[in-house]
Amino acid sequence: MCGISAVVGQKNIVPILFESIKNLEYRGYDSCGMAVIHEGKLAWRKNTGGVDEVNKKEHLTGMQGRTGIAHTRWATHGRVDALNAHPHLSSDGLFAIVHNGIFNNYQALRQELEAKGIVFLSQTDTEVLAHLIGLAFQEFGQVEPALLAALERVEGTYAVALTTPLEPERLYAVRKGSPLVLGFGEGIQFAASDVNAFLPYTRSALFMDDGEYAVLTHDSWQVRRMADSTPVEKSPVHIEWDAETSRKGGYSHYMLKEIFDQPLTITNAMNIPRQEIISLVEMIRQAGTTYLVGVGTTYYVAMVGQYLCSQLAGRYIPVVSSDEFYELGVVAPGDLVIALSQSGETYDTRMAVQFAKDRKAHTACIVNVMGSTLSRMVDQVIMQGSGPEICVVSTKAAIAQMVILMRAAMELGLSEGHLTEESYRDIHKALGEFPQVLQKTLNELSGFVRNLAEKAEDYQNWLFMGRGIYYPIAMEAALKMKEVTYLHVEGLPAGFLKHGTLAMVDSRMASLFFIPPPESRELHKQTLAALEEVKARSGPVFGLMFQGDTQSAQVLDHYVELPQVPAAMAPFMELVVAQVFSYFSALRLGRSIDKPRNLAKSVTVG
Ligand code: F6R
Repeated sequence: MCGISAVVGQKNIVPILFESIKNLEYRGYDSCGMAVIHEGKLAWRKNTGGVDEVNKKEHLTGMQGRTGIAHTRWATHGRVDALNAHPHLSSDGLFAIVHNGIFNNYQALRQELEAKGIVFLSQTDTEVLAHLIGLAFQEFGQVEPALLAALERVEGTYAVALTTPLEPERLYAVRKGSPLVLGFGEGIQFAASDVNAFLPYTRSALFMDDGEYAVLTHDSWQVRRMADSTPVEKSPVHIEWDAETSRKGGYSHYMLKEIFDQPLTITNAMNIPRQEIISLVEMIRQAGTTYLVGVGTTYYVAMVGQYLCSQLAGRYIPVVSSDEFYELGVVAPGDLVIALSQSGETYDTRMAVQFAKDRKAHTACIVNVMGSTLSRMVDQVIMQGSGPEICVVSTKAAIAQMVILMRAAMELGLSEGHLTEESYRDIHKALGEFPQVLQKTLNELSGFVRNLAEKAEDYQNWLFMGRGIYYPIAMEAALKMKEVTYLHVEGLPAGFLKHGTLAMVDSRMASLFFIPPPESRELHKQTLAALEEVKARSGPVFGLMFQGDTQSAQVLDHYVELPQVPAAMAPFMELVVAQVFSYFSALRLGRSIDKPRNLAKSVTVG
């Protein structure tokens, strides 16, 4: 799981190559490196740390060249050290490669190569391919056939970029199972893991498919098939995102910017044509069983969708974490699997969709990244249009997906006679007005949420609890809090508490309750009952609640009071406020908020 970038231009491309890999840093950030061709020679530098840190150690920006490749790593094979950082070179020093993905058969190949006397410098799977290319070149005497012959030996998923002084004006980039996109600028061409790498330079992009490779020079490009080297006819697309929306725009962190982007993200989700939502709903109506799948945050989004379908459409939809789908899904022809993914590249979710396709089920996805693998695998795509999400932890993409699922549940309810026209209109109106209310809340309440985070700073252990739809909201909020604070935070259904978890509660175990508005009578009552259980055991109780809820105000130790919103919007409002709470808690702890330790943005490996 890594980011790769390759650039070929008319002039020195090093500053651009450096910027491109910095733009991909969220994909992995434990080490990085670059290789460039300068005056007919291969030069490379690499080390551990984030891109800026490695630049300080190795002075990457001091290199020069018109052709180069770069890599930012999230270790899978081999510990984090300078030797395992990419690029990796063939033993003749003629070929440098960067790689995202995994070569499954690398151990057998390594043994074979070692038996031939090749000395390995790293523990990575990638180095195997570098040596295979070097050996194949001895046989073929040409770069392209050598690359293809070497690739035939490796099994697994990959995107690879290659540079060599043998062809100093040319780059090769190959895709099989890991994302790769080309970018075409004026006198400069790119190949990268995603478009963020080159958005400041061009918005003309081409998404490669599995089994294809690209040959790039500063003023030409061609995509060819790995199987027989024949050209593939493809046209570039225009990327709507601009570089500015990818930047922090004055916020101290991407996480905060993206939390504040949410009113716009919701508006964009509301602007998706109704017909697209109805088409998805028609698929659900015609399908046997419909599954919702996602993993991490998108799993919790799917759970929110599940509650919405039960409540608004009277339809129970099974939700399975993508990584478990293989074990749990009982998929038959005519069933439907709807996958949720911000990146559209998550391995587990892609595999869940593949599992469904293999069983002749229909597939659909709600996804944020245009041209992503998932979006090209399924029968129907809903592009959520949330704009680039750079912070490793997902915020704005998740809320947009929840809104889209709410719209789908409403359409399903309406078409099946479970929801009246009037209720449909009421919720639609509430959704339409919500972005403005949310914007105001973010502007006016963030200070209060920061104060709540201050009161929370003594606690190392947390329970986040809610009932009904507030349960997946609490789960997602707990995941956010874990990711950015590294604290022990458990999300659970508030009703579950007395069935075991209560044993953990004492004065050092804090709880955060997601309290529905008082008009959700039963849910409100049940949530407060759990709150009382904690309080009776001296557990400190924090809460998110709505104005006018005097009962909660009396029992909570600390709370933030949110403006009244229609009941259907209340869970979304609490989720956003909980994101802000996690952000300020992490800020007080001095955490690496946009790039928490041990994580990576899109997990493209299994
Ligand atoms: C959490 C987070 C992850 C992702 C998960 C799926 O903040 O970002 O849990 O939600 O890895 O990623 P996508 O949505 O890209 O498929």
